[in-house]
Amino acid sequence: MNSSDVKATLSFSDGSPSMDLPLYKGSIGPDVIDIRKLYGQTGKFTYDPGFLSTASCNSTITYIDGDKGELLYRGYPIEQLAENCDFLETCHLLLYGDLPDAAQKLDFTARVSSHTMVHEQMQFFLRGFRRDAHPMAIMTGLVGALSAFYHDSTDINNPVHREIAAIRLIAKMPTLVAMAYKYTQGQPYMYPKNNLSYAANFMHMMFANPCEEYVQNDVLVRAMDRIFILHADHEQNASTSTVRLCGSSGTNPFAAIAAGVACLWGPAHGGANEAALNMLGDIQKMGGVEKIGEFIKQVKDKNSTVKLMGFGHRVYKNYDPRAKLMRETCHEVLGALGLHDDPLFKLAMALEKIALEDDYFVSRKLYPNVDFYSGIVQRAIGIPVQLFTAIFALARTVGWIAQLNEMIGDPEYKIGRPRQLYVGAQQRSVKPVGQR
Ligand code: CMC
Repeated sequence: MNSSDVKATLSFSDGSPSMDLPLYKGSIGPDVIDIRKLYGQTGKFTYDPGFLSTASCNSTITYIDGDKGELLYRGYPIEQLAENCDFLETCHLLLYGDLPDAAQKLDFTARVSSHTMVHEQMQFFLRGFRRDAHPMAIMTGLVGALSAFYHDSTDINNPVHREIAAIRLIAKMPTLVAMAYKYTQGQPYMYPKNNLSYAANFMHMMFANPCEEYVQNDVLVRAMDRIFILHADHEQNASTSTVRLCGSSGTNPFAAIAAGVACLWGPAHGGANEAALNMLGDIQKMGGVEKIGEFIKQVKDKNSTVKLMGFGHRVYKNYDPRAKLMRETCHEVLGALGLHDDPLFKLAMALEKIALEDDYFVSRKLYPNVDFYSGIVQRAIGIPVQLFTAIFALARTVGWIAQLNEMIGDPEYKIGRPRQLYVGAQQRSVKPVGQR
């Protein structure tokens, strides 16, 4: 971290001594004020629910400029990665800091491919779930259970264990998601095929069955791969911060990633793609495009809890660059499948147009995020709505691991332990039950 010559001075109106706080400069983005000595010197904490103004770590992985609508992985714009690279190259970039050359790409692909199968016993573990369980409930369990199956890669402080756990997680997530899907369908699991690309192999495990091969459609495989790239990392979002916090206790990598999966499930985070598609379905049932006005009225009503799912973002106060790419992919996929008249896609386009012109959304800088179009793409590919968030988890796994590794390698890392402003009862005495 580069110190700045400028210092921030904190002063108090009650005459308590003021305090100088160091300032650090990032390579891009806002400077940060170092408050680590604040409590020691003033006896006071800072208060920042939701971390609106708090940097919890320093990181070299992902940078977002929310006002410009810019996203960089290790300095590379997401648009260039989406156009020129595949998901495994993106994984290499996030994990090791740079894009692979041709030999490194071959080696990395071979390493990932050699770990795509899961322990045979895992299918019996999976059988313990109800067939109608939500795939994210199953995924939370399966990912956590990996630590029960791969004992030789559970020491988070051992770089060799971390490396093998990283490769295993990236390689096995598609297998686990496909198994969770097949289980809910009552179909046999399909073993991975390592001669296929990462995305094509996932689609094979999803859509083939022992009687029928999966016939690869290059446009759809490319769309799946792009979904993976666009979701691979997103700096210190809720699930990534959860992974870091969980990992900071020294727990094993599989347990930390399972915590990320659990966090991602929420509708304000990864669950938004499922919620966005369900919302479009509900508007369609209400009467479609004609009912958009009525729906928007509900969203704007202060007394309603209805939100325009797939809109708004904590960091982006401009069009999410991932949403632009996803919109483009949406056109390609619907075109390739002859679905350009898809009613939900038309509804989404009309809804987006109306919302982007409405003062409620304009004044709050609410723009479409990646989830607004990703659901339509996935549905067109044949992915069931309930599986959308599990696919997000599959893609985000590499980001979670890269962030976890970065934290463990950071000499300044400590167990995460926020403080609080206590506003509860002061000390009091317990009365016998008859006197309460
Ligand atoms: N629909 C209607 N109003 C909204 C929406 C929305 N989608 N998002 C924010 N607002 C309003 C909010 O009610 C508030 O209005 P007011 O100032 O009148 O109280 C204002 O905009 C600011 O919102 P906020 O809740 O303070 O913003 P936040 O940064 O805490 O929340 C968010 C960000 C993503 C949780 C929120 O925008 C949201 O719930 N969006 C819908 C869910 C969604 O699409 N999530 C996916 C995020 S992208 C994928 C990912 O990274 O996980």
